[in-house]
Amino acid sequence: MGKIIALFNQSGGVGKTTLTMNLGYQLAERGHRMLLVDMDPQASLTTFMGFDVSDQDKTIYNAIVSEEDEPLPILQAHQMNLSPANIMLANAEQELILADQRETRLKEPLSAIANDYDFILIDCPPSLGILSQISLIAADYVLVPIQTQFKALMGTDSLLKTIKKIQRRLNKTLKIAGFCPTMYSPGNALDQRTLEAITEQLAAIAPIFTPIPRATALAEASEFGKPLALSPKKNLSVLAILNEIVIVLEQL
Ligand SMILES: Nc1ncnc2c1ncn2[C@@H]1O[C@H](COP(=O)(O)OP(=O)(O)O)[C@@H](O)[C@H]1O
Ligand SMILES: [Mg+2]
Repeated sequence: MGKIIALFNQSGGVGKTTLTMNLGYQLAERGHRMLLVDMDPQASLTTFMGFDVSDQDKTIYNAIVSEEDEPLPILQAHQMNLSPANIMLANAEQELILADQRETRLKEPLSAIANDYDFILIDCPPSLGILSQISLIAADYVLVPIQTQFKALMGTDSLLKTIKKIQRRLNKTLKIAGFCPTMYSPGNALDQRTLEAITEQLAAIAPIFTPIPRATALAEASEFGKPLALSPKKNLSVLAILNEIVIVLEQL
């Protein structure tokens, strides 16, 4: 059975989607069979992977709201499979309110195909709502990207509360794989202090991964619709850090 990892933080712009694609690609490079799942109605992962969101007529939305057993739609790019999203997914929040068995709407279709993969990475939306909840219910692990910025720790209380709530009842075996500081500028004293604060407050809860530096090359690669490793402007030190995290994920 593939390990299912949700990348979750209710703050937007912390690097969830960038990490999902790039950890996914580095894992694929090491021979792992990969599925990425776009659970954000903004569909950034689908775009970052190089797809035109408006071309997708079947998306993850169909699989999670359908009353019949609709399989997950699967696209292929960069040695990975992707279940795409589009803005229709924004309707799912409403439509699932009264739906039967809504807690397992993602877990069920993922369980059906988990044997075909070594890892399934779920890119959560920037919210604590039902889409994030059903992602955490479907997952074995949660990985929390956390921006090394002054405000970073402000949301961690509600983030941890949400994870605890899921662990208490709906997914008792959910584990925190770690916190991944992102957009870190090593030369910046404020970033350094924030990293220290993140470590001080969260290291007792789960491992703190090597920070991902702020690197234009990462943003540019996504803009080209590619993982960093396939971009014309590679950044070898960022790739080395991604691979360090990948080795931890392999040992989960
Ligand atoms: N390490 C980084 N360095 C520089 N820019 C980054 C980095 N990680 C992500 N970005 C950029 O920041 C923006 C937000 O990242 P994204 O991965 O979409 O965050 P989230 O999914 O948490 O909203 C995107 O434009 C992305 O290209
Ligand atoms: Mg995102």
